[in-house]
Amino acid sequence: MSRTHNPRQWLPVLLNLLFLLQLFDTSNADVGTAAQYPPPYLPTQCFGGDSSQFPSSNLFAAAGDGIWDNGASCGRQYLVRCISAEETGTCVPDKTIQVKIVDYAGTINKASVSGTTMVLSQTAFGSVANSTARSINIEFQQLGMIWKMQK
Ligand SMILES: *[C@@H]1O[C@H](CO)[C@@H](O)[C@H](O)[C@H]1NC(C)=O
Repeated sequence: MSRTHNPRQWLPVLLNLLFLLQLFDTSNADVGTAAQYPPPYLPTQCFGGDSSQFPSSNLFAAAGDGIWDNGASCGRQYLVRCISAEETGTCVPDKTIQVKIVDYAGTINKASVSGTTMVLSQTAFGSVANSTARSINIEFQQLGMIWKMQK
């Protein structure tokens, strides 16, 4: 009995592989800045009072004007790494986290510094840097561009 090999059935496998490769490819990463903000985190410009949209890891962020994209950034995932800060030793070395955009930085009034690329949740900020810092320089990269092309 012969089985037809439909190349289409390998497409999801291939895309998954590309997605994983993207995790290790920092060649198209951007450089920016990040501040932090404390709770309460609701309501948000993205999801109103819906707390179910927050990742259980508590790794999320509010988008600054540079990446807000008029709200289209809501739900986007970014890889974020701390690369430097005013005070040396602030960054956790070689630590990359994945954050989800849940809010707009322009309307949160508790950011440690205003005008940054993104404002990280306390958990996210503390994962890549000394949590006593007010702002850090970051390398960031949007995830899932390949998936978007499929839709
Ligand atoms: C974080 O920064 C503060 C203030 O600079 C410093 O006292 C503290 O030792 C730092 N913590 C770590 C874990 O490096």
